Amino acid sequence: MVSDVSVDRLSVDAGLRARAAKVVPGGVYGHQSVTSLPSGYPQYMSRGLGSHVWDADGNEYIDLMCSWGPVILGHRHPGVEAAAARQAAEADCQNGPSARMVELAEAMTQMVDHADWAMFSKNGTDATTQCLTIARAATGRRKILVATGAYHGADPWCTPNPRGVLPEDRAHLVPYRYNDLASVDAAMAVVGDDLAGVVVSPIRHDISVDLELPDPAFAAGLRSLCNRSGAALILDDVRCGLRLHHGSSWEPLGVAPDLSAWSKAIANGYALGAILGRDSLREAARSIYTTGSFWFGAVSMAASLATLQILEDEDTVGRMVDIGSRLRRGLAEQAGAHGIDISLSGPVQMPFLTFAGDDDFALADVFARQAILGGVWLHPRHNWFVSGAMDEADVDQVLSVTDAAFGQVARSGSPS
Ligand SMILES: Cc1ncc(COP(=O)(O)O)c(C=O)c1O
Repeated sequence: MVSDVSVDRLSVDAGLRARAAKVVPGGVYGHQSVTSLPSGYPQYMSRGLGSHVWDADGNEYIDLMCSWGPVILGHRHPGVEAAAARQAAEADCQNGPSARMVELAEAMTQMVDHADWAMFSKNGTDATTQCLTIARAATGRRKILVATGAYHGADPWCTPNPRGVLPEDRAHLVPYRYNDLASVDAAMAVVGDDLAGVVVSPIRHDISVDLELPDPAFAAGLRSLCNRSGAALILDDVRCGLRLHHGSSWEPLGVAPDLSAWSKAIANGYALGAILGRDSLREAARSIYTTGSFWFGAVSMAASLATLQILEDEDTVGRMVDIGSRLRRGLAEQAGAHGIDISLSGPVQMPFLTFAGDDDFALADVFARQAILGGVWLHPRHNWFVSGAMDEADVDQVLSVTDAAFGQVARSGSPS
């Protein structure tokens, strides 16, 4: 076992947790809560810069979670911060949108092949939920096909925790299996002429299972089945968007959805969601009622405009592929040298590490605890995120910590 660290290391954190326990249900809710993580993880953060973050006690970490995806250029990227500050000096939340909304819709429809129009909101859940509403408004049908185990957000129709959710909230969702076209076909046969849409993520990134890339034949087959049935193909690009490709994540496969949902990385950490759609769904998108008090905030849109431009100018996807490849090679070599059987799945920009036979994630927890104590923030059960701010020195520093973490795993023995 990793020896216990000084209690002082997280003393500010402990104080904040104790205060939160009295005034916030559960202390912290949702997946940002560290209660299911090994001891040693701080709950509260103070700041970030580039590829590094600091917790409330001032401990520094190389960040391999990137705020669960939103930070793609690095924390407080100067170009993004300058654009956001310029806009903030004018206004953010007003009686209507600023010119930034029009500019951003132009930029996103130019960047993404399938997009003829854009609408904005705040979170990924806003975007995926609006996609379903638009598909239903367009078709006048009820059923939506959703892959078993997929995460599309935290609204009643999609939250992974069914507490407080009614069967009626999910009454018209029909499951299929990712990368299994026959299961889609079978689900469509059951649904008949009531199918409004099919939601799919660019890769299979369900929690706690190895990531799976899309079979190109599956993606193309989904497109044809949607064409045949008149249903909308909805790509949930909230997590992968802009990390895999500077455009829709399925563009390299030659498959264009009818609607796509975006958030996370599009504004480098500023709160913004987006839906992009085809002309054929423009009237349906216009016809629904959807809005929020903060959805037209101009600061996050200014941040997004800067983010998109920098991503393009600096070929950040290429940079993340290089850095992610260096990390993956290093991890694979280290595991081999320690005689540990691991799986490294997913694109190198969004890697996921699991240990063979580690069904209860006990080895992953040993590894993660050693990493966090060594100053590397990664997650034992969820894919990690590489940012464009990571450099070779960061990767080498991460690898020096993971080498010790693999050593700890080797000493802790085989999975129970
Ligand atoms: C694929 C996917 N869709 C939707 C969401 C929901 O996004 P948000 O948490 O911004 O509501 C997430 C969030 O992790 C996601 O990964």
